[in-house]
Amino acid sequence: MVQFTLDSYESESVEIEKEILSCRKCSLWKTRKNAVPGEGGFKKKIMFVGEAPGKREDELGRPFVGAAGKLLDELLESIGLSRKDVFITNIVKCRPPGNRDPTEYEIKQCAPYLERQIRIMKPKVICPLGRFSAGYILNMFGFTMSSISKAQGKVFETPEVVILPMYHPAAALYHGKMKVYLEKSFKVLSELISIKFEKGR
Ligand code: URA
Ligand code: SF4
Repeated sequence: MVQFTLDSYESESVEIEKEILSCRKCSLWKTRKNAVPGEGGFKKKIMFVGEAPGKREDELGRPFVGAAGKLLDELLESIGLSRKDVFITNIVKCRPPGNRDPTEYEIKQCAPYLERQIRIMKPKVICPLGRFSAGYILNMFGFTMSSISKAQGKVFETPEVVILPMYHPAAALYHGKMKVYLEKSFKVLSELISIKFEKGR
C-alpha cells in the first residue's frame, strides 16, 4: 500500500475536496448550495462521520454547524477535545432536499470519497454517527450491523482501526435517552484515546 507523507496527504486531500466540490455523480448536486467535504485536524487520527449536510451545513459548506453540531461540540469538549482535534465529515457530501434520508444510490455514489479520506488519513478511531454511516463503515471493515441501537457504544476492532458507532446527535436532540447513550459513547471514546494515544499502543 502507498504510504502517504504529510505533504502527499495534503495534496491528496485537496484533490479529493476539489472533486467533491464539483461532483455530479448523483442528483444531489442540482439542489445543493455547497458540497461539504469535511474539515478538522489530522494529527489526532480520530474521524467522525455523520449522515449528510443539513440546511446550515449546505449554506456554509461546513459539517455539523447547526444544532446537532452544537451538541457535537459540547460532547467533544466534555472529553477535552475540540473540533480542531478531530476530522468531521459525512457519508454523503451534499444535502438531501428537506433533510430526507439519503438513498442507497446516493450513498453508493458518494461513499468512495469517504473511503479515500479514510485511506489517506488512516484514522486510529472512526466514530460513525447514526445508522447510515455506522452500517456503511462497519460493512466496509467486514462487520455487519443488525441495528444502530445494538451497535452504538460498542468497540469494533480491526488491525488498522477501531470503529465506535454512536447515535446521531440530531436524534439525541429529540430523544433524551439517546443523549444519555451518546454521552456514554463519548466516555468510551475518551478511554479508547487514553489507551491508543497516551499509552503508545
Ligand atoms: N447532520 C449530519 O449528519 N451531518 C452534518 O454535517 C450536520 C447534521
Ligand atoms: Fe457527488 Fe456525493 Fe454530492 Fe452526490 S452527494 S453529487 S456523489 S458529492
